[in-house]
Amino acid sequence: MSGEKVLVLNATGKVGRNTCRALKEAGFEVFGTTRSTNSDLAKLGVKPVVCDYTDRSSLDRALNETGAKRLFSITDYFGAAKSNAATEIAHGKNAVDAAKAAKIEHMIFVSVSDAELFNEHVRHIRTKVIIEDYLRNSGVPFSILRPTAFFENLDDAKSWNPLKKGAVKFLTTKKCKYCATYDIGRAAAVIFKNQEAWLGRPLDVIGWEGDLSQVAQALQKVGGVPVKHSLAMPIFFRRLFLKDLHNMFLYFEAGGPKGTPEEFKRVVPDALSAEDWFRFHGHYANGDKIGS
Ligand SMILES: NC(=O)c1ccc[n+]([C@@H]2O[C@H](COP(=O)([O-])OP(=O)(O)OC[C@H]3O[C@@H](n4cnc5c(N)ncnc54)[C@H](OP(=O)(O)O)[C@@H]3O)[C@@H](O)[C@H]2O)c1
Repeated sequence: MSGEKVLVLNATGKVGRNTCRALKEAGFEVFGTTRSTNSDLAKLGVKPVVCDYTDRSSLDRALNETGAKRLFSITDYFGAAKSNAATEIAHGKNAVDAAKAAKIEHMIFVSVSDAELFNEHVRHIRTKVIIEDYLRNSGVPFSILRPTAFFENLDDAKSWNPLKKGAVKFLTTKKCKYCATYDIGRAAAVIFKNQEAWLGRPLDVIGWEGDLSQVAQALQKVGGVPVKHSLAMPIFFRRLFLKDLHNMFLYFEAGGPKGTPEEFKRVVPDALSAEDWFRFHGHYANGDKIGS
């Protein structure tokens, strides 16, 4: 298996970049798609492939050029699909169709834990259910990774939530299940290496559970300075302006998703906790190092 080629779509994104890293560490030859001719993927030891993963002909070219028979696929509702459900579904189906045409031997699609249990307002997750079904019926050998909320949301300047020294913010203060995008990649490595055991199966990626005060304690421990925690926006505004995410958080706040860190740790035993993730992430949004 060492040196086997994997093509990672959307490789410069949060999930893509850390998945490339984890697959490299696991010994795969990793190719990563980006639209840019000037990406820093090579610094990770990843072979950049200029490709727009939303475009079928571009995908066909990338699969053909690399000769990869393993494909890691992720779609993006808010970014590449511009918050349009039909567009994200089309992107996901494109990747499945391209995988089928290229006779991919194992495709991993990144969905969301308990995707089918969110209500109809959570459009960016309901799309994943439709793509999962399309993949299941495609004939392409597959597995599905179903992550919960990313720790990376705690430092996301693009979503107006940069991580600052002494403070941590999120859209809920209640108990929530989190995962590191790096653990999505580590789970992908386990699955690609044990194809027979994982064919046709989903895996929930859930590394840790805690409320925002526990997240703040974790940052305080790693950073060595007191940390306050608060809502990134009042619930009233969350309900008013972020209907999709608000409904997603209602599911989280009611205790979902059903999976547990203990279950995931049977596959990735050292899955990152909040404390581990702050160490792994290593810096605040302004580039300053977390801790001494
Ligand atoms: N945030 C969470 O807690 C969470 C939890 C579970 C699942 N998810 C799912 O994760 C997915 C997002 O993944 P991510 O956070 O890794 O994404 P991301 O970091 O936002 O990925 C951005 C990448 O998408 C590419 N891109 C942006 N606009 C594009 C366009 N118009 N056409 C083609 N490519 C474009 C860019 O690559 P280039 O510029 O290099 O081409 C960019 O690096 C979503 O589907 C979300 O539902 C998120």
